[in-house]
Amino acid sequence: MDFWAEQAERLHWDVRWSEVLDWSGAPYAKWFTGGRLNAAHNCVDRHVEAGFGDQVAIHWVGEPGDSRDITYAQLRDEVCRAANALASLGVRAGDRVAIQLPMIPEAIVAMLACARLGAPHSVVFGGFSPSALRSRVEDAEAKVVITADGQFRRGQAVPMKANVDEALAGSAVEKVVVVRRTGEDVPMGERDVWWHELVDGQSTEHFAEAFDSEHPLFILYTSGTTGKPKGILHTTGGYLTQVAYTHQVVFDHRPGEDVYWCTADIGWITGHSYIVYGPLANRATQVVYEGTPNTPHEGRHWEIVQKYGVSIYYTAPTLIRTFMKWGEDIPARYDLSSLRVLGSVGEPINPEAWRWYREHIGAGTAPIVDTWWQTETGAIMIAPPPGSPEFKPGSAQTPVPGISAMVVDDAGKEVAPGESGYLVLDQPWPSMLRGVWGDDARFRETYWSRFTGAYFAGDGARYDADGDIWLLGRVDDVMNVSGHRISTAEVESALVSHPAVAEAAVVGAADPTTGQGIVAFVIPRDAAEVSVQELRDHVAREIGPIAKPRQIMVVPELPKTRSGKIMRRLLRDVAENREIGDVTTLADSGVMAQIAGQKSAT
Ligand code: WT7
Repeated sequence: MDFWAEQAERLHWDVRWSEVLDWSGAPYAKWFTGGRLNAAHNCVDRHVEAGFGDQVAIHWVGEPGDSRDITYAQLRDEVCRAANALASLGVRAGDRVAIQLPMIPEAIVAMLACARLGAPHSVVFGGFSPSALRSRVEDAEAKVVITADGQFRRGQAVPMKANVDEALAGSAVEKVVVVRRTGEDVPMGERDVWWHELVDGQSTEHFAEAFDSEHPLFILYTSGTTGKPKGILHTTGGYLTQVAYTHQVVFDHRPGEDVYWCTADIGWITGHSYIVYGPLANRATQVVYEGTPNTPHEGRHWEIVQKYGVSIYYTAPTLIRTFMKWGEDIPARYDLSSLRVLGSVGEPINPEAWRWYREHIGAGTAPIVDTWWQTETGAIMIAPPPGSPEFKPGSAQTPVPGISAMVVDDAGKEVAPGESGYLVLDQPWPSMLRGVWGDDARFRETYWSRFTGAYFAGDGARYDADGDIWLLGRVDDVMNVSGHRISTAEVESALVSHPAVAEAAVVGAADPTTGQGIVAFVIPRDAAEVSVQELRDHVAREIGPIAKPRQIMVVPELPKTRSGKIMRRLLRDVAENREIGDVTTLADSGVMAQIAGQKSAT
């Protein structure tokens, strides 16, 4: 416990904690009990007070080519104005604020303004559909929603406010604050207010009240094994301690020297922990880029690395594989010599991508830190130290100091090297989730019922002969598409909500670029005409483009056990073009022949 107390010293505490960990209410942990702090003050004001007001916090790069450098002093002023603005709308500590914004500075400012007021934010990825936004806003009972007129995507302005309007039709949300980004005409209703009209005239003075260490900081929704996303709850002191600690040790971050860039979107946990809270708590200078990596050309990231002298670059395997496809001659056109540490997150990185990343981006020498963690863990849990004597392409290797992880078998017994098992976290950690918003039963059931006294991560893993950990992918019905978690049930329920579909089964099939691709099998309703394209679009409308199936097969039947459970294993065999496995437990063993026959017909 001295270890975590030492890490907590990285932060400014208005009131020091009395106890490092109270685990008596397990599985609900309390870290740094009695301590009081303000997350926004820790990320912004204290750096200004320490004389670093002129240091650039954010080199922001817009997709169309506009850019802004924001110093810590400017960031403080903006966060204070925004906090005053939200307070003027009646936002108080404990109120939830939903944020759906593109990757613009206001997104970070809005999150920090909420943190400053003690109002938990719930950021919703900009690519989520109106109905996905609606269910999240309703579940969290958000009082205010912050959005933009539109966002730039691949050189095009696409509407955002219109989606929000659709999502919020008839909802209890009191105010919608709209940032002007793309400049298109948007109808402003009675509850709508422009960000610039609301925020710009506010005072830059705002007193940052200290909140209890366990005060909720944010809710972030993630997919589980059912159709309904879970609102993962994170609190203040423990979360901020662990994100600051890991951002510093895993990336060997040096404030004032490094230029850091994490390519995630703030709509995901990676953006929360490694764009907003970790780096800013550590007084990083970072790049924030709004757009897609091939707009206007496939060298965009490397041009940015060269221009700003990026030294730490953190991205996902799916993007590395995309860069590989575009060709190594593209990064070769730029000076990437500033890069010193490379990171990977989101899925196991295949050794081929690892080697390419090291060779063509890291000059053959940069350490690659493969970081395993989850929305639920809040911060990095398993990663090789950047000064590691040996890196193993494809292995996240060892828990970071202070963290304990184990690979166990069905009975909860630690497995021998080489055997596969389940990854569990057998000790509480500061940034662990503090529940599923409004659903205690689901929290206990999902994470704490499989193994006594340990957190079940949902990932398969094994040890190698050195005791290093290799992650093997999800063991539940959760797919990993481009590093994003999508549940099979979510896509299935979107499919069956279409009138032409009677039944649907969805599997994740290996995909050379995205890790997994979504493959759906649908049984049409009697005599109904189904258009596969229409169904794909329907899923994109229901959930968002990231959930669009790569392939939809129209089949007469689905393989089920006698108890009616769909055997996804067999469907995966079909989707991955393998010979079909053991069918003896099927209620009707002829079904697979029909499906395979159907496949060759399509
Ligand atoms: C799931 C969590 C953590 C931020 C991004 C995703 C997979 C993540 C790795 C890695 C192997 C990984 C796991 C995990 N995953 N990083 N380095 N090696 N698998 O957050 O959406 O909560 O997804 O992503 O399956 O359970 P998330």
